Amino acid sequence: MRILFVGDIFGRPGRTIVHERLPELQKQHAVDLTIANGENAAGGFGITPQIAEELFELGIDVITTGNHIWDKREIIDYMNSANGNEASLARRILRPANYPAGSPGFGWYQGRTRAGVPYAVINLQGRVFMTQNDDPFRLTDELLRQITAKVILVDIHAEATSEKISMGWYLEGRVTAVLGTHTHVPTADEQVLPSGTAVQTEGVIGVQKELILQRFLTNMPSRFEPATNDVRLCATLIECNPDSGRATGVQRIMLRQGK
Ligand code: FE2
Repeated sequence: MRILFVGDIFGRPGRTIVHERLPELQKQHAVDLTIANGENAAGGFGITPQIAEELFELGIDVITTGNHIWDKREIIDYMNSANGNEASLARRILRPANYPAGSPGFGWYQGRTRAGVPYAVINLQGRVFMTQNDDPFRLTDELLRQITAKVILVDIHAEATSEKISMGWYLEGRVTAVLGTHTHVPTADEQVLPSGTAVQTEGVIGVQKELILQRFLTNMPSRFEPATNDVRLCATLIECNPDSGRATGVQRIMLRQGK
């Protein structure tokens, strides 16, 4: 069984390259399940219900997010509209599971692929250099007691690769894959840990480099605008046994627009 995990989709350039290239990637690799982090899909900040539905239409099964989830307020009503119903499309967009109790929406999803294989997706947020939320490690222990699927994907949205790889080792042998998001730089550390958990800790942010440089040089606030040249689609392909949920392979994918 093959799972494609797409890193943070950033603004319109990110949505465009996903639109252009995702279908062929899914076909080429005979992908059974596609997950993408969409927290920056709306101009780099948040996601709207309309954009979420566009991404679902493209064949993304579950959308994970992170610290930008509430930037577009209308997503709150959208997530609440699912009312916990797992058959609802709006239930397939997640916010980090370790957000405070009472936050809108859900941090994990359990469903079946088109071929009928049960799977679960857990969305977490790190705590190093980020707002302090509940302990994502112990919370995941709790979630794993409730989840019945064997194929389990974890998106840990965090700044520090150390925190992401630690989560990989913590969940080793208990989930299919632990994938990092948020920093937008794909790391070259993809591996299958000895007990069959695939990890890659991350999937220069897709912002115009002049704006980033200006912030470093002057410390002045600048609005981050999505870069429109050299747009890339970065993803991770995970191969796993659908019965045991153990990963057997992991492959880093990077496609450049027009190439
Ligand atoms: Fe983020």
